Amino acid sequence: MAIDRKQLEALCGSTLDETTFEGLGERIQGKVRDSYLDPERRPGQRTIVVSDRVSCFDRVVGTIPLKGQVLNQMAAFWFRETGSWLRHHLIDVPDPSVSIVKECKTLPVEFVMRGYLTGSTSTSIWTAYERGEREYCGHSLPDGLQRHEKLSEPLLTPTTKADFGDHDELTSRAALIESGAISEALYDEAHAIAQRLFAAGTRHAEKQGLILVDTKYEIGLDEDGQVVVIDEIHTPDSSRYWRIDGYEDALSRGESPPAIDKEYVRLWLGEQGYKGEGTPPALPIEVRVTAAERYIAAFEQVSGRPFIADLEPPEPRIKRNLAIP
Ligand SMILES: Nc1ncnc2c1ncn2[C@@H]1O[C@H](COP(=O)(O)OP(=O)(O)OP(=O)(O)O)[C@@H](O)[C@H]1O
Ligand SMILES: [Mg+2]
Repeated sequence: MAIDRKQLEALCGSTLDETTFEGLGERIQGKVRDSYLDPERRPGQRTIVVSDRVSCFDRVVGTIPLKGQVLNQMAAFWFRETGSWLRHHLIDVPDPSVSIVKECKTLPVEFVMRGYLTGSTSTSIWTAYERGEREYCGHSLPDGLQRHEKLSEPLLTPTTKADFGDHDELTSRAALIESGAISEALYDEAHAIAQRLFAAGTRHAEKQGLILVDTKYEIGLDEDGQVVVIDEIHTPDSSRYWRIDGYEDALSRGESPPAIDKEYVRLWLGEQGYKGEGTPPALPIEVRVTAAERYIAAFEQVSGRPFIADLEPPEPRIKRNLAIP
């Protein structure tokens, strides 16, 4: 890693939090991304500014230096990796933290692919399994599985996309079709894409010494009604990765496999007794710096390339790169 803790500490003072750029059009705020729509200047397109905000338990809990850059570069890496066969939304990356994408109509479903029986949140497959449930998002699970064990095949376990501030809820193919949220044909097309993408991600991760454990895809329809993968793919925010080398060992000792995702911030919050209710404790500089190191390490390990950080304060840089006042 070309950047040290002292530099990251200094960057904690100029992270990209809430953005209010003029000249990019109407702003739509997500937990991590701020999208801008300007139908006159960029018809059919969306400008996505990936902030440095970090969300845990569906809440924004602070900012991590360089996180927006890392996520944006990582999503771009994967879109380029799969671009020969995947229809995706990315058009251009005019700034390390910004993507110009094709504006799509989002499907009201989060397409979660799971390769392993793991997780810790209330909606995770392990939490359900531990409770004794053997039906999960429409899939039957056999008895006798161990925590963190590989599933016999990756499963698509959809959730409904919640509105801002709400939590996503588990659902199934049958329930989504029955409620009219999505047609059968569209669900099955999205399923095929999610499976192929997850298989490609798994193969690439393996070559890098990693396990792609689970991930979430968002899918939209473009103006011609074509199915397009949107948002981000295979980033540490949307995915869980484990290191292959420590997996067997951890399993035999009944421990959690070594992870390279945002579990670190979640765990720190958990240690402070925070589980997503009320105001989260402020992230100390040390935790933010370590989280930044982990995001950068994740980029480097997954992509196999050094992360080239842009150390300029993000706001003036974005304004210059996007040619806005
Ligand atoms: N090409 C696109 N067209 C339309 N909407 C998009 C496109 N790409 C991403 N989005 C939407 O932009 C928003 C990005 O914001 P962000 O990643 O902060 O998501 P969020 O929904 O608040 O949180 P989370 O990702 O944790 O569920 C999401 O609502 C996503 O669906
Ligand atoms: Mg998102």
